[in-house]
Amino acid sequence: MATNLTIANPTVTTANFARICNSRYRSTFFFNRKKEVEEYSKILGKDQKPLMHVFTGPPNSGKTALLKKVLKIERWEDRKSPVVALDMRGIPFSAAPSFLNAMEESLAPWYDRMIDIDATLVPAKLYKRDMTVLSKFFSFVVKNLPKFSLSTSEKFPILFIDHADKISKLTLTKEGTDALQLFLEFLIKCTKHFPVVLASSDSFYRLWLAKFIGADKFKTHVIGHLSKKEAKKYWEEHALPEYRKVRPSFKAPKFEDVFAVCGGNFMLMDRYCEDYVINNGSVLPEHFSFVQQQMNRLTSYGLLKSQTKWTGEQFFTVMNRMNENGYVVYDDLCDEMTEEVVDAMIKANLIYLRPTHELTFDLEYKGKESILTPTSPSSAAAMKLIVKNEKHLIN
Ligand SMILES: Nc1ncnc2c1ncn2[C@@H]1O[C@H](COP(=O)(O)OP(=O)(O)OP(=O)(O)O)[C@@H](O)[C@H]1O
Ligand SMILES: [Mg+2]
Repeated sequence: MATNLTIANPTVTTANFARICNSRYRSTFFFNRKKEVEEYSKILGKDQKPLMHVFTGPPNSGKTALLKKVLKIERWEDRKSPVVALDMRGIPFSAAPSFLNAMEESLAPWYDRMIDIDATLVPAKLYKRDMTVLSKFFSFVVKNLPKFSLSTSEKFPILFIDHADKISKLTLTKEGTDALQLFLEFLIKCTKHFPVVLASSDSFYRLWLAKFIGADKFKTHVIGHLSKKEAKKYWEEHALPEYRKVRPSFKAPKFEDVFAVCGGNFMLMDRYCEDYVINNGSVLPEHFSFVQQQMNRLTSYGLLKSQTKWTGEQFFTVMNRMNENGYVVYDDLCDEMTEEVVDAMIKANLIYLRPTHELTFDLEYKGKESILTPTSPSSAAAMKLIVKNEKHLIN
């Protein structure tokens, strides 16, 4: 049952405050990440040679929101846009047949618009669905797609696949692997005509894809969190006014406190406001629910869990290193602890692996090598607290 909060506005309950917050997530409000929007609009614009682009970056860094803005996608199901956008998280499939059917169903209305096909020319067998037929379907689409030219009309197609790592689960079976191979070949052929954009926060997605199709077949970009300056602007001009609407009498949390546990992460800043209201206007940064959740996770999975590939001491060392600059160079840590140990920590979602990229503004790192970071700014704050207070756990 909803708890009534008694301070300030008595009509706002914890339940409907959460609703107010959630409606913000669904709203179309977009905080302009000017530099990224400008650069990626150019990179994905029609005067560039089409390529396959992989967008990676930590969970919740704003990849989907940014790409939707750049590609001008108002709604996923918008059938009129020349951009076909598929969110693999929302497409149910478990094995090859359901995957291929889902792809055909999602792509057909789009390629119908792109290609003016006389229905009588479509091989009748294409209406039956099995692997060989689907393979023909992909070849047919590619063969009939309009040729890309740098002076193309407005009918400039783009294929955007969000949460693209979800298709890697197909490799569990031989048939699934074949279907995946077929689909990836289709994507490669598509890039001869128009850009293909794949997005995923999975640390290993681009490496997995490189093994499948070759690293030369795509270009990787990284979307990081906001810089401190941008985070301050978002906090002062958007997050804070939203919460002030429902709790005008509360003393506003200080930005430095918020930044210490939320960094430049939109979702965390919004959630901090929510915690602040739920806790009647007082929440210590270290008591922020996401920091608490991360402390539990890092302690139970990172330090204490037995039968893992790493020791509690090793994970403690990792956290200690992260606290120095907010990152550790991947190769350096592998040299020290072996690749197997480091990769196991990444797979367990205790740390995050990302390539470096000139269009990220949340870290000071200026080198070229891939780096490891905490999985979120709240996780970084939790690591600091654990290193400070919990050393006894590993002794
Ligand atoms: N530029 C922005 N302006 C306002 N809100 C944003 C912006 N970017 C992201 N958000 C909000 O932050 C949250 C996470 O954004 P988004 O889903 O785009 O992240 P993501 O990197 O795609 O996450 P995932 O790794 O899970 O795919 C959402 O609630 C979204 O509305
Ligand atoms: Mg996303």
